Amino acid sequence: MAHVLVTGGCGFFGSWIAQKLLHSGHRVTVIDLERVTKRWEMILSPEEIERIAFVTCRIDEPEGVKDTFTRVQPDAVIHLAGMQVPGCRSNPILGARVNVIGTLAIFEAAAALAKKPPVIYASSAAVFGSDADYDSGAVGDASLPLPGTHYGAFKLCTEHCGRVYFSEKRIRSVGLRPLTVYGPGRDAGMTSFPTRAVAAAILKQKFDIPFSGPTTYTFAEEIADLFTAAALNPPEAARVYTVGGDVLDTPAFIAELEKALPGARTFVTCSGGPLPVASRMDDAELRRAFPNVRRIGITEGLATTINVFKRLAERGRLEV
Ligand SMILES: NC(=O)c1ccc[n+]([C@@H]2O[C@H](COP(=O)([O-])OP(=O)(O)OC[C@H]3O[C@@H](n4cnc5c(N)ncnc54)[C@H](O)[C@@H]3O)[C@@H](O)[C@H]2O)c1
Repeated sequence: MAHVLVTGGCGFFGSWIAQKLLHSGHRVTVIDLERVTKRWEMILSPEEIERIAFVTCRIDEPEGVKDTFTRVQPDAVIHLAGMQVPGCRSNPILGARVNVIGTLAIFEAAAALAKKPPVIYASSAAVFGSDADYDSGAVGDASLPLPGTHYGAFKLCTEHCGRVYFSEKRIRSVGLRPLTVYGPGRDAGMTSFPTRAVAAAILKQKFDIPFSGPTTYTFAEEIADLFTAAALNPPEAARVYTVGGDVLDTPAFIAELEKALPGARTFVTCSGGPLPVASRMDDAELRRAFPNVRRIGITEGLATTINVFKRLAERGRLEV
């Protein structure tokens, strides 16, 4: 049994990762700004929620992070806490404090422990530019990062810092670069609209997804499998991997939703152009590194999302 510390564990990824770790018999300590359980309640039983240890801790306050690590003594760290694209755009200084300084605080705290835990952290496909910046085809680990947002620039900075922490302090790390992750609990950020559209269709509310171009969709459970596989079996290195999935434009996403939830098309529309991030992700290297992680396609991912959302709607607890 491993003891895994999950930063930002009350958020979307954190909830699915906590579920995966608990179901595999591991111990979970979450650090976050406050103990918000609404996403845990979507996919965890009350007994499972009771088993999650919680510590209030701001990652951008390095002394507090260090104290927490000393008390928890984790075997591995999954670092998810951070601000998303809109927050970094409206307040880049705070964005850098949380996403860059906060990530350095995590690596510093890991380096200060006698048994240095590996750090598995969320980077993002936002390290890449838009489709117009690349000749053709998919972008992957060998492609040139060209972030078009402060958020992407901060994520790229943390990847470089991760490499330095391995060369200077032997901290093993894996950075994962997902693009549009969907599923229950996804409620914030630029690419949250497709998931919120599923909730709106169930509640029979009109909803517009404000981009129409293609993007790569990955289901939350597959993301949780990747983070936990890396945390439990870290490489003797600092690695960064681009994460793949199903490439769909928004009309094709709405068509998939209509198949899974007949009538959804009446409520969900799309507008606007492409997202400012390249649309097609090549994850050949990631698949080689984690061959046992199962790909979860859009049909299965949407079916699971709809089931969870319908149960929430029956209890009057589904929000768009
Ligand atoms: N959701 C996606 O599709 C996606 C895609 C690529 C990368 N990512 C990255 O993955 C990570 C997790 O994403 P998510 O969708 O779970 O985000 P989320 O917003 O649902 O969760 C982030 C959590 O971090 C916490 N947090 C924020 N600032 C903090 C601070 N200063 N100290 C401690 N905790 C703080 C929040 O309270 C929240 O619980 C983020 O770093 C995000 O940038 C997400």
